[in-house]
Amino acid sequence: MSERLADHGGLPSEGLLKLYETWGKGGAGLLITGNAMIDARCKTEPENIVIDEPESLDKFRAWAEIAQQDGAQLWMQINHPGRQMPKTVAAEAQAPSPVIVKGLGPLLAKPRAMTEEEILTAIEKFAKGALVAKESGFAGVQIHGAHGYLVSQFLSPISNQRQDRWGGSLENRMRFLIEIVRSIREKVGPKFPIGLKLNSADFQKGGFTKDESIAVIEALNSESIDLLEISGGTYERTEMWRNMHEKSAPSTRAREAYFLEYAEQVREKAKMPLLLTGGLRSVEGINATLDSGAVDLVGMARPFLINPNIASDFLDRKQSSVSDPNLSVGIKTADSLIQITWYAMQIERLAKGLAPNPKLSRLSAFFRGLKTSLPIFQKRTASPKPKASASTVS
Ligand SMILES: Cc1cc2nc3c(=O)[nH]c(=O)nc-3n(C[C@H](O)[C@H](O)[C@H](O)COP(=O)(O)O)c2cc1C
Repeated sequence: MSERLADHGGLPSEGLLKLYETWGKGGAGLLITGNAMIDARCKTEPENIVIDEPESLDKFRAWAEIAQQDGAQLWMQINHPGRQMPKTVAAEAQAPSPVIVKGLGPLLAKPRAMTEEEILTAIEKFAKGALVAKESGFAGVQIHGAHGYLVSQFLSPISNQRQDRWGGSLENRMRFLIEIVRSIREKVGPKFPIGLKLNSADFQKGGFTKDESIAVIEALNSESIDLLEISGGTYERTEMWRNMHEKSAPSTRAREAYFLEYAEQVREKAKMPLLLTGGLRSVEGINATLDSGAVDLVGMARPFLINPNIASDFLDRKQSSVSDPNLSVGIKTADSLIQITWYAMQIERLAKGLAPNPKLSRLSAFFRGLKTSLPIFQKRTASPKPKASASTVS
């Protein structure tokens, strides 16, 4: 989960180290970081970690060390926001095409179609970012190819309306992702694990479909992906952090994991190990998911902000389930803001060495969310311009 705990300039802060020290002791076998930005000018939030040619790796090394000291592996998630970049970061966003995010236009930077050179630069920056992770002692990286960020924007015909070799047919739309995978592999060598978080679909009419997602996975079978995490949704359809109190199909409720049916279809085609995250809240649900044979690993996100020791408490049978607080006020846009901010506020508590506060009110999350997302309350806080500009990276 995006930690929003970078120091100015995008470096890991003391709070970030504290957070991962806590999670490192929590019993997870693999910790995947929140999204770290491959380009200092392009961020999902102003306070993101930036891995765009950092001057020193010391703080990244400290992060990798503290998280892994109790035996967990730490993989860094690497990302580029594309058009899902707040105005509080910059006025203009790089994207496949100039298509604004529906409903969030006033809050987000204006998207502009990337040039061929900018696309090649972004691919190179993914590879360089992965190398930062490797050289800092992270055990792997995960490309963020889901949730409507740049990789996912290239995959979706809604956000990718290009007519060159990067748009149009699915083969063209997946070129950006495939080139990123190849370029990272070339940079990090054959043994360093590369994961990918991919959308099952963007759940929108005319968007990236489940069939297309499976076709992408089939293409990835001959590329070098070591772990595939299944997710779904975008800022326009926030399926990725589904409200667990919303009505869902009885089969989904019984199984908890809301992308399991899709995972079962993927299993038939995918050659790489599969990780499923989203909705798992009990030992029983986790066991049922693993017993289904559809996936090799299961992940949890929000439960680690209710109980940071949730994995070991489940494994030791000290706790058999965890439930999400009902954060809904019944208005969709407000609900999304409250949900993300409420959990972000719990991250802040853990970073200060405090326990999560389950009683934190929806209202305080709402006002805090407004304050952090409305440009009138914010100064632009983009990191200093990176040393390598678009024109200097080959
Ligand atoms: C506060 C917050 C921040 C998140 N940030 C990220 C992120 O940086 N990268 C990502 O892939 N998913 C992110 N997610 C989504 C989670 O990784 C996960 O896919 C989702 O919450 C569903 O899992 P869960 O039901 O176990 O919470 C975030 C979720 C929350 C609540």
